[in-house]
Order: sequence, then structure tokens, then C-alpha cells
Amino acid sequence: MVRPRRLRTTPAMRRMVAETRLHPADLILPAFVREGIDEPVAIGSMPGVYQHTRDSLRKAAAEAVAAGVGGIMLFGVPLHKDATGSQGTDPDGILQVAIRDVKAEVGDDLVIMSDLCLDEFTDHGHCGVLDERGRVDNDATLERYAQMARVQADAGVHVVGPSGMMDGQVRVVRAALDAAGHQDVSILAYTAKYASAFYGPFREAVNSSLRGDRKTYQQDPANARESLRELELDLAEGADMVMVKPALPYLDILRQIADAVDVPVAAYQISGEYAMVEAAAANGWIDRDRAIMETLTGIRRAGAGMVLTYWATEAALRLRRGE
Ligand code: PBG
Repeated sequence: MVRPRRLRTTPAMRRMVAETRLHPADLILPAFVREGIDEPVAIGSMPGVYQHTRDSLRKAAAEAVAAGVGGIMLFGVPLHKDATGSQGTDPDGILQVAIRDVKAEVGDDLVIMSDLCLDEFTDHGHCGVLDERGRVDNDATLERYAQMARVQADAGVHVVGPSGMMDGQVRVVRAALDAAGHQDVSILAYTAKYASAFYGPFREAVNSSLRGDRKTYQQDPANARESLRELELDLAEGADMVMVKPALPYLDILRQIADAVDVPVAAYQISGEYAMVEAAAANGWIDRDRAIMETLTGIRRAGAGMVLTYWATEAALRLRRGE
């Protein structure tokens, strides 16, 4: 009789035949740094995640390195927001300061990435600048992204992550980087980014009060083929790596993209995915640690080489202990 259970008999057997392995280096830690605070501020909808001070961010980066984490993705929360998100392009804006801080702390031991988008910096909370009718103006936004790319690269970032879903953003960012002598700075393109309800807690994380929604620029959850179109464009425009976001509700998209490309593929396990597991665990409804590792394994199994996750450091330490 064929007995598949033979290969499940012991932990050693299961470990040996496992098809998917997680490694600390595959994990990327998204981190928030807020201007003008003296103590880290807890994010209520993301228990265990903080808006960092400059100091506590440096510490978090050092801990990530010690745990063997692959990279860090930085988000800035400025004191002052305005219509054009001017703090996003000020060389002394909080995100640029944070990039320099982290670089000083960890050098090249961690891949330093930065979110390249305006929503953390605008008072209306949109990912771009608005036209006179209040719509997100694609091409005017591209000019702002080009400036952001330049100041982030000047600050020493290794990878920029254009996440605003503006048409042509990868092309414009690549051109701006090259023109400023930053040929070696890579682009992690948010290729398939869906208009998701699961970004909810992120709004608290970056103190954003979005007016309206993002449905005219982020993708419709109903569409899969559209992701392949976005993928083709991003690769043609110069993306070095591509990303799918959110992760768990879009594993089919992840598989489809992973099968289609020869560049590294990342997935972003976003704030709402984190909050769901933490909330259920806090109620005693699921085994938190097992659920975390299961989600990360599932995302890897679906085709992500790299996973952005707020549990990066914790999961990396657990992997190191061999759990
Ligand atoms: C855009 C950006 C967002 C996230 C990462 N980059 C918010 C959005 O697009 O609405 C969300 C990350 C998360 O929810 O964890 N700057």
C-alpha cells in the first residue's frame, strides 16, 4: 500500500523532506520612524510594533542584523505634512535622516530599503499630488518621485521601493537615480499592489488620515491578469526586483508572477495581516507562533524569495534556534 504518512513519522523525517525552508536572510523588516518624539510610540492596531525614535530605530536595525535578517524597509512619519509632501524630498526630512542613521549603525550588513511614496508625507494622505479637481495627478507625482529617489539615494539607501502605483514610476525613478550617479541603487518595484482593506493599521502607523480611497491607482482585488501587465511594464522600465502586496489574500498572484520572471520576487505581509494574527492570538483563538511561521512558509511556498514582515526579527531568531 502507498502510505504517504511514512514520510511524516518523525520531526527529523519531516524536516528532511520539507520542500520549503525559511531562512532569516529571506526576511525584511518594515520599520517606522517618527520625527519629534523622545520615546517609541506603540501602534495600537499592531501590538508589538512601534513608531521608532531615531535611537530606537538604530537599535532595531542592529537587532535585525544580529538575528540575520536580510533587510530593513524604512517608512518616515514627518512632523509636518502638506499637499505636496515636501518632507519627502527635503534632504533633512525624517526618512532621509533615518536612512543615514541606519547606514551609520549597520553599514552594508543589512540591505537598507526605503518606501518611495508620498502618502506618509501628504496632509490628504494620497500617494501623489492632487490636481485642481482633487484627483491624483500621475505625471506631476512622477516628478516628485524622481526627487524622492534622488534624496533617498543621496542619504545612502541600497534599494528604493516605489509603492505609489503611478504609471511610469519605475522608469522615472531609474532615470533619476542614474542621472544622479546612483547606478548601483536598486529598485524593488511594487508590481502588483492591490487596493486592500488590510492596509488599515498602516494608517495609524504613519498617522495618515486618508481622504477617499486609493482605487484609481491601486489594483482591483478582482483582477489577476492585470498583474502580469504591471509586471511586464515594471521589468521593461528597469525593476531589479518585484513585489506582490498584500501577501496572504494574493498567493495566486504571487505564484503567477514567480513563475513568469527571472528576477527576485518579494511579498509584503502587511499591517492588517499582522493585526489579524495578533488579535486572534490575543483572544487565545490560535497558536500565535505557529500561525506566524505557517503564514511565512505559505508565502514562501507560493513563490516569494523574500518576505517583508513585521515579525522579521522575531521569526529570524526562532529560525536560528531551529524551531
Ligand atoms: C505606501 C505604502 C502603504 C503600505 C506600504 N507602502 C500604504 C498604502 O499603499 O495604502 C502598507 C504597508 C502595510 O499595510 O503594512 N506608502
